[in-house]
Amino acid sequence: MIKIAPSILSADFSKLGEDIKEVELGGADYIHVDVMDGHFVPNITIGPLVVEAIRPITNLPLDVHLMIENPDQFIPQFAKAGADILSVHVEACTHLHRTVHLIKDYGVRAGIVLNPATPVEVIEPIIEDVDLVLLMTVNPGFGGQRFIESVLTKIKKVSELAKSRNLTIDIEVDGGVNFTTAKKCVEAGANVLVAGSAIYNEIDRAKAIAEIRGDFNK
Ligand code: DX5
Ligand code: ZN
Repeated sequence: MIKIAPSILSADFSKLGEDIKEVELGGADYIHVDVMDGHFVPNITIGPLVVEAIRPITNLPLDVHLMIENPDQFIPQFAKAGADILSVHVEACTHLHRTVHLIKDYGVRAGIVLNPATPVEVIEPIIEDVDLVLLMTVNPGFGGQRFIESVLTKIKKVSELAKSRNLTIDIEVDGGVNFTTAKKCVEAGANVLVAGSAIYNEIDRAKAIAEIRGDFNK
């Protein structure tokens, strides 16, 4: 089944609660929360306080994407704030195995994220330990960027690797996902589609979610 994870980075932060409720009612499967620290990526967004504030307003899992240096320092806070999935960038983790297990020790699903230029091979020793692999289809930091086509080959590779090891992990894509690029990602093997501007820049968000999901769940 294809899951849609609207990224609240493109929501209106002055009415964040309403914008989250709207996509929940519109058929979203996860709420994607982009955490940026101004060091790992050239932008600053939100922290654990906001995660805690939105936790009670939705029943959907909070899919928290940590674009931060030294994630170990903040994982406990995000877990306590109510994250259901915590994903860390392999580029930011010197001791990735330790970080993944720190997330799991808090009873949270663990994801690992690869930037567009990071090869898939780095996940081979850790894929058995994770619940989700997120492939960035833009360089992280901002919403509304153009989808990088070359990542499609990496999606295929992750999908084949998971199959060859009999793993049922989520394969998520993030960045420049719209109804055209979504189709390519799903055909390559992705099953969780993050979309920010393609949902929140539309007046009818339910329609945008349905269009991105396409016919795949029919
Ligand atoms: C980018 C973020 C994405 C972003 C996606 O650094 O991780 O989640 O919000 O936005 P769109 O869908 O507009 O590319
Ligand atoms: Zn993201």
